[in-house]
Amino acid sequence: MTLRLSGVSARHGRIVVCRNIGLEVERGEVLVLLGPNGAGKSSTLGAIAGSVASSGEISVDGHALQGRAASRRARMGLSLVPEGRRNLFGALSVAENLQIGVRLLASPQRAAALAQLYSSFPILEQRRAQSAAMLSGGEQQQLAIAVAIARRPSVLLLDEPSQGLAPVALDHLVQIIDSLRTQGLAVLLAEQNHAFAARLGDRFVALRAGEIVASGDRSQLADRELAAVAMMGQSTPAMR
Ligand SMILES: Nc1ncnc2c1ncn2[C@@H]1O[C@H](COP(=O)(O)OP(=O)(O)OP(=O)(O)O)[C@@H](O)[C@H]1O
Ligand SMILES: [Mg+2]
Repeated sequence: MTLRLSGVSARHGRIVVCRNIGLEVERGEVLVLLGPNGAGKSSTLGAIAGSVASSGEISVDGHALQGRAASRRARMGLSLVPEGRRNLFGALSVAENLQIGVRLLASPQRAAALAQLYSSFPILEQRRAQSAAMLSGGEQQQLAIAVAIARRPSVLLLDEPSQGLAPVALDHLVQIIDSLRTQGLAVLLAEQNHAFAARLGDRFVALRAGEIVASGDRSQLADRELAAVAMMGQSTPAMR
């Protein structure tokens, strides 16, 4: 199993916000972590990436992550696109952000990696001299994903990428995440936009108040508990 969590708790200071989280994501699969505001989606992703304190077992390709710094976890194949695309430097250009993205690769590999990113994200090629802050929301999300995959991770953690995007940008995002799955990434997608998540997920885990309350595959998405959590997400405003 590419990404595996067992009995994971996450905490901010002394406050435990997620308890006993267990989940697995395989290469070529999208697992959706559904849940309303404050359910603990970002804290779970942070526990995996190493930015939020946690206990329990987390492994990538069988290698335990506990006790390792976020930078080490990144080198072991994990990459996080944080909420609000906070991995971007707004004042820097698209090209400069991508150069930062490829810096974990050995220097001879960087030029080829950049060329590949520009061919996968043609809009970024067109906007390469523009500052990240001046891009549209959809373009920023593409750049945030491009920066995150620049180092060629095996596991991609996406924190509410649909947030604030127009319908056409959402369609584009579905295509991009679909192609990452086809390329063999293991994708863990935190979402409260049920309709968007339903277009992408192979399996779904519902988080409520820091605990997993339901899980299932696509055919079980309408089941009571999963649907209830998904609907809680739907009732929150789209823009925050
Ligand atoms: N830095 C922090 N310090 C203290 N408590 C925090 C911190 N970040 C989050 N929390 C708390 O942890 C709980 C889970 O929050 P988290 O951000 O993980 O939820 P979420 O599902 O990502 O919500 P959202 O949909 O709003 O992004 C909430 O009760 C939140 O108030
Ligand atoms: Mg969050």
